[in-house]
Amino acid sequence: MELLQLNSGTAIPQLGLGTSKSGEPDRAVASGLEVGYRHIDTAQMYQNETAVGEGIRASGVPRDEIFLTTKLHNPHHAPEDVHRTFEESLQRLGVDYVDLFLIHWPMPFDKTDYVDTWRTMIELRDSGRARAIGVSNFVQDHLDRIIEATGVTPAVNQIEVHPTFANNELRQYCRERGIVVTAWSPLGKGDELDLPAVREIAERHDRTPAQVILRWHLQRGDVVIPKSDNPERQRSNFDVFSFELSPNDMDALDALDRGEDGRRSPHPNDFGKE
Ligand code: A2P
Repeated sequence: MELLQLNSGTAIPQLGLGTSKSGEPDRAVASGLEVGYRHIDTAQMYQNETAVGEGIRASGVPRDEIFLTTKLHNPHHAPEDVHRTFEESLQRLGVDYVDLFLIHWPMPFDKTDYVDTWRTMIELRDSGRARAIGVSNFVQDHLDRIIEATGVTPAVNQIEVHPTFANNELRQYCRERGIVVTAWSPLGKGDELDLPAVREIAERHDRTPAQVILRWHLQRGDVVIPKSDNPERQRSNFDVFSFELSPNDMDALDALDRGEDGRRSPHPNDFGKE
């Protein structure tokens, strides 16, 4: 398993298990850890932190072998709420630190400026209970503002990336700033597995469509967090380190990018509006 270095001095496993919309997160996390995942991604918004914590304990895998991420929910951007809800997340998860804490969405229209939210995240990092801090769904303007105001660069920006929405400009910007990109919805919520180009490459390599898309993300250098509740799919999604896509395969997958038309969620400037 590749580890990518973060600007915090810690390292993140390049492949993790997503838990958004998991139907049975305790069982999914326990089975994911049995399969070999050592990076689990959750969020206050998913309302599953308690179950994720139970899954971790049920697996018997020691806490210090797991990279655990959670995220600040949108109603909690005010500094006092950041502190309070971070403590609540630790309690629900049953841990005394997380490896990565992210601002989930920037909400530039919110009454709290996300720059002030970021300043509070820095306090949590300094306390040692969030070993690294970062953001999610921040575009270049948002990143520029928090970096210029505080001098602290997020370790990670977790953003929407999948073959029909390759998000290359923002990924390039993050790379230049030393920010690791994590791709959320890496399989396009499962909807991109039937694309003819994906199927053709999968058949040629005798691999599943999901393995091909995950391999594309890994070869682009991003962290990837596919969600699956199914132990067999968790296992095959994890088995992506023993084959390689050719430059032609990568080009064919890159050609699926539809720019803004491929985006599946609202633009980060709008997400979370009433
Ligand atoms: P399931 O949990 O039943 O496996 P994303 O990570 O892009 O949001 O995609 C998650 C969706 O893709 C879920 O619906 C998940 O369903 C499905 N999925 C994950 N891995 C695979 C796979 N290897 N083959 C088919 N569907 C998959």
